[in-house]
Amino acid sequence: MQFQNKKILITAGPTYEPIDPVRFIGNRSTGKMGIAIAESFAKQGAEVELVLGPTHLRPSHKNINCHLVETGAQMYAACLKQYDSCDVAIMSAAVADYKPAEVLNQKIKKSDATITLTLEKTTDILFELGKLKKHQLLVGFALETENLIENATSKLNRKNLDLIVANYSSAFGEGFGFDTNKVIIIDRNNKMYNFELKQKEEVALDIVDIVAKYLK
Ligand code: CTP
Repeated sequence: MQFQNKKILITAGPTYEPIDPVRFIGNRSTGKMGIAIAESFAKQGAEVELVLGPTHLRPSHKNINCHLVETGAQMYAACLKQYDSCDVAIMSAAVADYKPAEVLNQKIKKSDATITLTLEKTTDILFELGKLKKHQLLVGFALETENLIENATSKLNRKNLDLIVANYSSAFGEGFGFDTNKVIIIDRNNKMYNFELKQKEEVALDIVDIVAKYLK
């Protein structure tokens, strides 16, 4: 029970950014990785605040408080409420980077003309938490299709993180929609922990072990 009396904030799942009352911009994240991380910390005695985007998956452990959100803005607001009182924050959610500049009140009707959606940037929750960081250990994720180590390290520095969990997108049965993941965890001194391809539940245990090491 190495996380007794510790509070962990975790984001998981996708976000949905509405276009009109029936349509949205989303992504293929299921939240499986983040929920597995939440379960692993809870089993180690932590109190977990899980901010979960739209997915059919739910956590089961009684020490996990699940905050259901839909948009990136709602996810950001839920994180801000919990951040001060947390010892560790792990951002595994696939937050949409862009949202429609305008949300229509009525459903868009089709016509023969082409339509253009104007998108604006969403708040980068992890970047903002990096700026506000005091005592917290802050952990981010980097899902990349190329130059994994360089891209992940630059995110670690730019977002003022303590650790980053890096993985390639879907190359070998890892990432969105898969039950397995192959990750490399990198710290601020460029120390790297390379893990094998394994079930997401086992990846979650590796993340818990590394976080425990850095929290001491
Ligand atoms: N993240 C976040 N809020 C956002 C976007 C991302 O909290 N609006 C977090 C993710 O949860 C993840 C990390 O930032 O922990 C990586 O995000 P990613 O989108 O891959 O990185 P970017 O810096 O946006 O770079 P790019 O999309 O160009 O790869």
